[in-house]
Amino acid sequence: MIVSEAPSKVILFGEHSVVYGYPAIASAINLKTYVNVTQQNGYTTIFSEPLNLRWTFNEKIPEEFLPLKRIIDILEEKYGVVLKNGLKIDIKSDVRPGSGLGSSASVAAAFAGALLYYIKGKLNVEELNEIAYEAEKVAHGTPSGIDNTVAVNGGVIKFVKTDNGPLIEKIKLDREIPLIIVDTGLGRSTKVAVSRVRELFSIESNVIKKIFEGIGHIAERIWEDLTRKKISLKRIGQLMNVNHGLLSAIGVSNSRIEEIVNYSREIGAYGAKITGAGLGGYVLVLPNENNADEIFEKLRSRYGYDRVLRIKTFNVGTVVREV
Ligand code: MEV
Repeated sequence: MIVSEAPSKVILFGEHSVVYGYPAIASAINLKTYVNVTQQNGYTTIFSEPLNLRWTFNEKIPEEFLPLKRIIDILEEKYGVVLKNGLKIDIKSDVRPGSGLGSSASVAAAFAGALLYYIKGKLNVEELNEIAYEAEKVAHGTPSGIDNTVAVNGGVIKFVKTDNGPLIEKIKLDREIPLIIVDTGLGRSTKVAVSRVRELFSIESNVIKKIFEGIGHIAERIWEDLTRKKISLKRIGQLMNVNHGLLSAIGVSNSRIEEIVNYSREIGAYGAKITGAGLGGYVLVLPNENNADEIFEKLRSRYGYDRVLRIKTFNVGTVVREV
């Protein structure tokens, strides 16, 4: 059996503007997707536990599995192998789809990783990232590629999309950034959020560009601090709040998100913002280090035990092994 796992992510700074080539900072987190591949007779079957969906290759494909089908098509063509027969592929995840934590990218990375390993017995990170990006395009239309890049590489990264492929820098933090995520309970689609921003961009690109420049500037400033090991949680939180305001300005917030963001700040968090596409999913909260436990408990009692999680940045990307 081949076992593959890939992390989910949070975007600390720069979602949406990253699609237009501005820098963003994201981190892999300790919530993961797991893919197991075993051999079986007959058509290949894919089962996704988070979607509670099964598909066998001789049946009509559910839309949710189109990104995975794309991975299979790419690999069959590139390596001249047959993958539509003989495999049982099971997907599990710590993260539900549509949460803003990059679940589709971590599924794509773990899935492509498992199959590449099945074909070649090893992984090449760049190849894996390119294939996972193709799957993300099927899922989201015009993604920047930041989600799959984090799922493949792990760690805290600065990401800039360019015409010649992404520019990626990765650092290892010398201290953990305490992070809390709060589930809005609202599912949403990255595709819808990205196309809403695109519409706004098309009617008022001069103003929206200024907003993106502001977000990109914040991401660069924070990256300088992180690489110089000058981490001030207070400053990160303050700039998260500015980034959130700019995301609200481009229309990807709503009353539920604003309520969680405002409450988090009122109880003493340094910062709170949308993470990922917005319109739902999770809100990212950076607590004050002196009363992080109290902030966590207050959020849990207001929004529910299951909806509020502490997360950790995670340094490892997609990992595959044979068991
Ligand atoms: C989604 O996690 C982040 C967005 O910036 C879209 C993308 O980068 O592809 C909203």
